Amino acid sequence: MTQFVVTIDGPAGSGKSTVARLLAERIGATFLDTGAMYRAVTWAALQDGVNLADEGQLAGVIDRHVFAFEAAQGDMRAFVDGRDITGWIRAPELTANVRYIASSPAMRARLVEMQRRFAKRHRRVVTEGRDQGTVAFPDAAVKFYLVADVAERARRRQAELEAKGVRADLKELHDAILSRDASDESRTVGPLRPAADAIVIDTTTLSVEQVVERVTEQVEARCSNRDS
Ligand code: DC
Repeated sequence: MTQFVVTIDGPAGSGKSTVARLLAERIGATFLDTGAMYRAVTWAALQDGVNLADEGQLAGVIDRHVFAFEAAQGDMRAFVDGRDITGWIRAPELTANVRYIASSPAMRARLVEMQRRFAKRHRRVVTEGRDQGTVAFPDAAVKFYLVADVAERARRRQAELEAKGVRADLKELHDAILSRDASDESRTVGPLRPAADAIVIDTTTLSVEQVVERVTEQVEARCSNRDS
């Protein structure tokens, strides 16, 4: 099966997950939310009560449980041992602990395997994360890297939380984003950085619609070049 993979990488709050979902819908592709995979493994590790700083114990978590990810109405649902945990994996306590999984080279290798296995089951995939264009899918047809000013990313996060009825302090969100950037950029395996052939888009002053329009144009242009 000839596969068509589009990768969208970038830091937290750059808009990549919204854009990836909408792009997937527009081009009839399946959306792969790789952050949800990191979160699902973190969820299982917290349930098991293992020492998150111990790589051996983390490997045990992946071996003990069955992780499954299913495309569902433009979204992706995460299952651990058959239980749908999608609603649990965005909790702040969980977000604060994902870095243990994300900074472990052995865990990243296992997660990249999961991502490739998921992609193999679908003909067209839009995948979103930190290392999709650099590590997981280096041969992807089109690669994007979205960036945005940290102040704007904090503002977006605040609006997102407010829409869910959660009040959050802008300065705290700003600091949390900076700390997540530092940990994402400094790890030795799968660090946050654009692939050499990625199209970089600064979304600071763009609406979601404008970004989706740009990425769709680029994807369509590449597709018509491939077809002709
Ligand atoms: O995109 P997100 O916020 O759901 O990602 C959760 C965490 O997982 C984030 O702190 C970085 C990590 N992550 C990663 O290291 N590599 C990926 N491909 C996706 C997410």
